[in-house]
Order: sequence, then structure tokens, then C-alpha cells
Amino acid sequence: MHFSPKQLFLNSVAQTNPEPLALEIDRADGNYLYDIHGNKFLDLISGISVCSIGHQNPLVIDAIIEQTKKHMHVMVYGETVQMPQNNYAQFIVDHLPESLNNVYFVNSGSEAIDAAMKLAKRYTGKHSFVAHKLAYHGSSQGPLSLMSDEYFVPKYRPLLNNVFFVDQNSIESIQELPQSNVAAVVVELIQAEKGVSISSVEYIQALYKYAKSIDAFFIVDEIQTGFGRTGTKFCFEQYNIVPDILVLGKALGGGMPMGAIVAPKHVMQSFANFPILGHITTFGGHPVCCAAGLAANKYLFDNYESFNIPQKEELFKSLLVHPKIKKVSGKGLLLACHLGDGVEGPKLIHLLLQEKLFTDWFLFEPNAIRICPPFTITTDEIISACNIIKVCLTQLN
Ligand SMILES: Cc1ncc(COP(=O)(O)O)c(C=O)c1O
Repeated sequence: MHFSPKQLFLNSVAQTNPEPLALEIDRADGNYLYDIHGNKFLDLISGISVCSIGHQNPLVIDAIIEQTKKHMHVMVYGETVQMPQNNYAQFIVDHLPESLNNVYFVNSGSEAIDAAMKLAKRYTGKHSFVAHKLAYHGSSQGPLSLMSDEYFVPKYRPLLNNVFFVDQNSIESIQELPQSNVAAVVVELIQAEKGVSISSVEYIQALYKYAKSIDAFFIVDEIQTGFGRTGTKFCFEQYNIVPDILVLGKALGGGMPMGAIVAPKHVMQSFANFPILGHITTFGGHPVCCAAGLAANKYLFDNYESFNIPQKEELFKSLLVHPKIKKVSGKGLLLACHLGDGVEGPKLIHLLLQEKLFTDWFLFEPNAIRICPPFTITTDEIISACNIIKVCLTQLN
């Protein structure tokens, strides 16, 4: 029997959404995705903040090919010296404050959050966590324990105990947080899945002060905001704080799967003592992923100014004005276009797809559309994307 690609996908590939977009991808190049029918879609989401320098950058492809020719996986993480890991770890710490001088590479954002939570417990000897309401830190059971949402979580309980949730930007609620036993406060400074909701500097400094006052770690999840997405190399630079543990993912791998935690060496070393092998990963720091990530993010930082991210943010914000648009929130090229009451986000997304514009919704804010394109998006492409959004909004009843 002959199945179409879409039927095969629906039959044999595990489904997590009863109504997937199911775009039949053939290839991707620059700022565009191409389907098997020859259609070309402008990519407004970069694979959810991953492909920041666009698709198929030749430097990244070359780095992957060259490393693949030398070696791929040789041994589980941490036992052999591999230059792609050395080079990438050095590159990352060179772009961070002095205390963040040691990198542990893992496979995904969720695993990185899990590892950060374990490291905080191991080093502080404490076991509670503080997290933001409506934050997303990943889907394995550690990060899921940090999720407050009452739609996604209940069916997966029991999870980790002793997680205390605080409202983003509520300085008053910090006073109600526990004064003992907290291993770490875990935050996204800009809560992406809440619909790109920005924390105020004043609030984050108060939360940071609280963490310090009780000897808890301040863990910053920059899986979505890191590597330039919000207008600075890392988002924490905008808050005048230095995280105790920085968590990276998504753009970290330049299109390959990767996560990492970055911490002071004396903290990270507790993974190597009593017990040894405090966090084990077979594929973490895969040499091909490290080579790809280094090539991508070296290119990204070398060319960062030329992407004109603040101007592109302003252009989106100035053009996305329409009676059915409430506001555009966010920073840099991590933006959310919030729709007026009664406008259905998912319907709009399907309509945009028909007009060859690829976008998406947010986990905790279905009435907004995600705008986080590759940094290489051009002025003309932004103008055209915003026109399409406005025309489709007018058509929606
Ligand atoms: C802020 C944030 N943290 C963690 C994760 C989890 O990363 P991954 O999907 O690689 O496990 C995500 C993924 O969307 C994220 O946006």
C-alpha cells in the first residue's frame, strides 16, 4: 500500500497534537522553508528560537562535514579529550562573566534544566525550588515540576515536591517565599511561552537579592533568550546580575540538538565527587553538535551588529498595528503579536500558512502568534510578513 508523506507521519510518527501543522518539509535555506509541493514559506519562528542565523549557513554545514570526517561519537561524556568540546566550551566562557567559567554539555534544554536542578541540590544540600508561574523549562520530570500550569501538569503527578511558585513581576509575593531549604530560584528573565512577558529589572533584582539572602542559587534559563535573541548576547546582561548557573539550549547547537549548563568550576566539580558521575550522559557534548554550535555562534557574534536587531524589533512593532491586534510584546527578535478578544490565534496561524508565512502559538498564550524569525530576516521580508498578517486578520471573522 502506498502512503503519502503526511499519512506516514500520522500513522508511524508519534503524535503530540491532534491538529499538527503538518507542513511537509523538503528543505530549508536562509529564511525560508520549502515543502515537497514546491511551496516556499517565510520562517517567522526559527524552529522556536533555534535557527537564529537562518537555515543551512555554509560555515555550519562545513563544520559538520569536517568533524564528521574526523570522528563522531567515541565515548560517553567526560572521559576523553575532544577538541570540539574544548573549543566550544572556551568560546562560551569567553563571552561570559569570569565566574561562569565551566561548561557541562548535555543533549537538550530539558536535560540542562534537570542537570542545573541536580547541581543546585548537590552543592547547597537543600532541596526546594522557587519558579515563576507560567514559566516553561522543559518537559522531563524535573522541569515539569517547575511548571505551574494546571492544564499540562496534573496528569503527570507526582512530580518533585517543594516547588514554590511566584508571580512574575510581583515584588510583594517575594516576601511570602520560604526562608530555608531553597536550593535554587529558577527563572526565565523573559517568559517566552507566557506570550513573551518581560520581567522588570527592579523585580529581578529583588528576586536575586532574595536568593542571595537565603544562600540559594539563582539559575537563569536562557534556552530561548540566549545567543542574542533579545538584543544582547545574553539576556541577563540587561538585568545587572550574574547567574550562579546559566542554562543554554536551542540556538546553542546551531541547528543540532544540544543543551548546556555553565557554572563556576568549584560548583561544577561537585558532580565529580561523592558520588562521582553526578550527571551522566552518553551523547552530551557530541563532537558534531559542538562543531556546528561553535561555527554558528561564532558567525552570530562576529556579525551581531550587522543583523540590526533593535531596528527590526521596532519595524515589527510599528507595522503590526491593526484593529484586531492588542499589542506586540517582547524584546529584540523574541516577539508576540497579541490578538484582540475573539480573534482565534490557531485559525490565524492556519490562514497565514496558506499565505506562505510560517508561525506558531505559545504554550500558555494561545491568543498570540510567535514572531522570532532568523536574525537574517530582511526589511522587505518584515514588511511583507506584517502586510500578510494584517490582510489575514482582516479576512478572519
Ligand atoms: C525557556 C525554555 N526552557 C527549556 C526548554 C526545553 O528545551 P528542550 O525542548 O530542548 O528540552 C524550552 C523549550 O522550548 C524553553 O523555551
